[in-house]
Amino acid sequence: MEEFRQKIADLLIDRLPELSKGDILDDIEIPPDKSLGDFAFPCFKLAKIYKQNPAQIATNVVDEINENEFFEKIEATGPYINFKSNLTLLSSKTLQKIQKQKEQYGYDDEGNGKTVVIDFSSPNIAKPFGFGHLRSTVIGNALSNIYDRLGYNVERINHLGDWGTQFGNLIAAYTKWGEKEKLREDPIDYLYELYVKFHEETENDLELKDEGRKWFRKLEESDETAVKLWKWFKDLSLQEFERIYKKLGVSFDSYKGEAFYDDKLEDTVERIQQSGITSYSEGALIVDLSAENLPPCLIKKKDGATLYVTRDLSAAMYRFEKYKFHKALYVVGVDQELHFKQMFKVLDKMGYEWANNLEHIQFGLIKFQDGKMSTRRGNLVFLEDVLKKAQSLALDIIKEKNPDLENKEEVAEMVGVGAIIFGDLSNDRIKEVTFDWERILDFNGETAPYLQYTHARICSILQKAGIALEYNEKHIEQIQSEYEKNVIQLLASYPDALKRARNVNKPHIVARYLLELAREFNRFYNNCPILNENEEVKNARLIIIDSVRQVIVNGLAIMGIKAPKQM
Ligand code: ARG
Repeated sequence: MEEFRQKIADLLIDRLPELSKGDILDDIEIPPDKSLGDFAFPCFKLAKIYKQNPAQIATNVVDEINENEFFEKIEATGPYINFKSNLTLLSSKTLQKIQKQKEQYGYDDEGNGKTVVIDFSSPNIAKPFGFGHLRSTVIGNALSNIYDRLGYNVERINHLGDWGTQFGNLIAAYTKWGEKEKLREDPIDYLYELYVKFHEETENDLELKDEGRKWFRKLEESDETAVKLWKWFKDLSLQEFERIYKKLGVSFDSYKGEAFYDDKLEDTVERIQQSGITSYSEGALIVDLSAENLPPCLIKKKDGATLYVTRDLSAAMYRFEKYKFHKALYVVGVDQELHFKQMFKVLDKMGYEWANNLEHIQFGLIKFQDGKMSTRRGNLVFLEDVLKKAQSLALDIIKEKNPDLENKEEVAEMVGVGAIIFGDLSNDRIKEVTFDWERILDFNGETAPYLQYTHARICSILQKAGIALEYNEKHIEQIQSEYEKNVIQLLASYPDALKRARNVNKPHIVARYLLELAREFNRFYNNCPILNENEEVKNARLIIIDSVRQVIVNGLAIMGIKAPKQM
């Protein structure tokens, strides 16, 4: 499709020297009604320049454009110039490209030489990995993969919540009540139990509270026992998180969390002070942001303690020095909007130009269909339980649909995990997600299982055909129907979908694209026989469906979802 857009720009630029090629490319639209054409160029801007009626301009321009092989038809409809692509050319270019590039179809080099830092997942050590962190993990992972495919150097950072007074509390609780065996057996649950117990007990036991503070001070002073326990809690928690990451197909380049910045904070605070934007308020060091209509950003408390935002300011400076990033994204829930606004503003006021390249990629909360989720611990949802449940529900469905399938368990894991990931990514991240088991596992719905099922169906047709695929221009020329055309146009626009998603940092654009492709494929398949056709048509259609298969695989891979060959 990109080549066709370029061609339009080339055709128009000769006749419209008033516009730049970039302007033209930006203005090209996809008409809402496909019968009008595949591309449309609106003439409103020109109307202003020429002080003429846009419809008249459209007609004049069309009269001047010569026939060319890329377009079957170029015509003026009202104020638009509509372009209908030459199907044979589009088909041969697209299918050939997919067959040649395979899993690399959709890759681009627009990001060459640019680094994008993506801060995502970032759970809190010694606390359960909750649904908010799940959202951050799957959205961040998909964005990382999109940037990666577009040629950017991506640094995936897990900004672990591994520092703060709660670790003093945890050490105090452990020294008081802790049992080694229990901790080894089920670290996160047990640490969480201790955390809850500590908070219950401190309601009446003020000494215990002091004990917690004392331990945190010790931790900051690198006391051997304190550091040892802290490190142990952290390692155990990380092992648990790693298991979840593996299931979701996620990995990180850095696990430098909040603790990493502890010995840099003094320097960070000094730099902020030196930039002359700080003041004191009731003994606390703040940056006044009233001119920006924001509450003041608290940098250092009266007792000298630093804060979450101080560590984030430090991390941003560290990251810029280290990566010289083109962009830094923070994939964090909408509830931290104020935090990021303040932090970005402080960096901006400090005079860092790169502060403009920081972006809070926010997302809405998860709600539950039935208002609750059965867990052992009240309203906190434990992700691992959720993944297990998804897998077992998927297994039930598979047993019913395909009792003879050999590797049912393995497939159920791909389907269950896929359903959870896609259930999240299929909606605009800004929206709240309502978690509903039936919906996300519906094989006919807007779901991962639907895409996976479509993929398996294609694999089975290809297998039945039993011939080696061979791209042949003569066969491709047989492609004539609207059904085929619609599928091919979608295939051709996959690279565009990636770029549109990158543009607004919204992976659901890719998810929605895949649903449309699968729907269009199914429409095609219900109307166009494949295996009973003559050799040429059969070959051409097999190439089409194999290309659909490939693009589904590529798109799902972006989200960390696998597609089984059978299900
Ligand atoms: N650990 C934090 C939380 O769970 C999220 C950290 C997000 N990243 C950041 N750089 N602040 O709320």
